[in-house]
Amino acid sequence: MGSSVTVGDRTVECGAGQPLLDAFLRAGVWMPNSCNQGTCGTCKLRVLEGDVDHRGSPLDTLPDAERQAGMALACQASPRGDVVVSAPGAGEAGRSTHALRDLVATVREVTEVARDTRRVLLGLDEPLAFSAGQYVELVVPGSGARRQYSLANTPEEDKVLELHVRRVPGGVASDAWLFGSVAVGDRVELTGPLGDFHLPGESDDEGEPMACIAGGTGLAPILGIVRTALLRRPDREIVLYHGVRGRDDLYDVDRLAELQAQHPGLRFVPVLSDEPVPTGSACRIGFPTDAFVEDQASARGWSGWLCGPPAMVEAGVKAFKRRRMAPRQIHREKFTPADAPGSGTAAA
Ligand code: FES
Repeated sequence: MGSSVTVGDRTVECGAGQPLLDAFLRAGVWMPNSCNQGTCGTCKLRVLEGDVDHRGSPLDTLPDAERQAGMALACQASPRGDVVVSAPGAGEAGRSTHALRDLVATVREVTEVARDTRRVLLGLDEPLAFSAGQYVELVVPGSGARRQYSLANTPEEDKVLELHVRRVPGGVASDAWLFGSVAVGDRVELTGPLGDFHLPGESDDEGEPMACIAGGTGLAPILGIVRTALLRRPDREIVLYHGVRGRDDLYDVDRLAELQAQHPGLRFVPVLSDEPVPTGSACRIGFPTDAFVEDQASARGWSGWLCGPPAMVEAGVKAFKRRRMAPRQIHREKFTPADAPGSGTAAA
């Protein structure tokens, strides 16, 4: 039997064993969230009334002292009877999100785009409403495992989802499935949209200049965000740094060059960390966060968008602050490849 769970002025039904976050998001009630796996702590909330079962909540993310103080991870905990919770901003009148849904899709296309990197297109049976930058969770056929992949789509592209997948040797999703047994026409179950790494709604978008730094397949959500921002304001000022190891890891260079030709405010800079750059190449050498600091004297008034490995994201936050970007304007998504052991945050 289900329970009633309340945040602010919103009350929803939550099934036995269903995580609180899942119940709120399915009802379209916004709640802070990122990894949906108990590892990032973004969804930490306070239980004001009633009791919860912490289920798989890791002690690293939610230590005993915090449990005793009434804290819980919304993506893991399920209610024991009716509960009332509070989380910053959640449940406020008018604060809603695209409802989380279970969907079925058909594999339309699988393309090798770079070393150990594939673009996967999934045709949905029904359109999915989401914000640019969010991710979906795929159910890996035959294993029941779930893996998270960010969407490279703009919200208008709501019928065919574009995912960028990096192969992880031995990974149940990437190696065995999306680099192995997958075939065009296969049916795929998925859940989405998830995550708070996304552009604000159009009415809240101030049109400020944007600095975007992506590492590897962290380019996927950044592409969705940048293309959406340019659809809203074709002359928006945007710098986009894509960091990879070598030229064989670069992809979508032509696509970005074309976008740059259409939008003079966009500047795309590929950055190679492990390879010399040939004379005349548009590539830079080093780390994309260093290239940003070298190029930009000030980012005051800009917003910043970071998606990639944790070390790159942390370096990016420092780089943005060094160039005077306001902390509230810094948006980040850390990921490890979806199949990596211990991967816990939204993956691209
Ligand atoms: Fe719950 Fe990350 S710990 S969303």
